[in-house]
Amino acid sequence: MHPDVERVLLSEKELDDIITRLAAQLDRDYAGEDKKLLLLCILKGSVVFMGELMKKITVPVEIDFMRVSSYGAGTATTGSVNIILDLHRKDLETCDILIVEDIIDSGRTLAYLKQYLELKGAHSVKTCTLLDKPERREVAFEADYVGREIPDEFVVGYGLDYDERLRALPYVGILKPSVYSK
Ligand code: IMP
Ligand code: MG
Repeated sequence: MHPDVERVLLSEKELDDIITRLAAQLDRDYAGEDKKLLLLCILKGSVVFMGELMKKITVPVEIDFMRVSSYGAGTATTGSVNIILDLHRKDLETCDILIVEDIIDSGRTLAYLKQYLELKGAHSVKTCTLLDKPERREVAFEADYVGREIPDEFVVGYGLDYDERLRALPYVGILKPSVYSK
């Protein structure tokens, strides 16, 4: 285990099981000729989850990317959402967008993005998050698909970072508090 990790919260096997379950739900809900599923990966944290999820989905998918920032340095939220990389597509009114997010904390990022993409004219917009910290909500928001609810702990790995570090860990681990208090 990495020395900055206190304990493993979700092992590779648990993550694989969670994503298998989500993919089966999505296959069921997005079946049909009238659907055009666009998986929208929110960079950078969702990149590992997105890669695993898209391999397990069997209905046709297209993929795209947006990058937003809501966090300042470290573990404290800034409360505002900035679009760093926008979505430019001419076919949005026929796209059934599934926003693929790593984790919901305050709820601001997904609440904002969902409304933004609806206003841009997407055919439908739903949200899928690997992790959810419901205790941390500052705005009312519930994702349509949730991998796992987790307690109010700062987690890293499987795409999630602490100051851009630890994204490449193959599991989700709880960061040692001594790492961010120093
Ligand atoms: P929200 O807008 O507060 O819901 O923030 C969601 C974003 O905050 C996520 O996409 C992550 O980038 C970041 N975030 C929230 N909690 C954690 C965590 O425990 N570890 C790493 N990043 C986190
Ligand atoms: Mg993120």
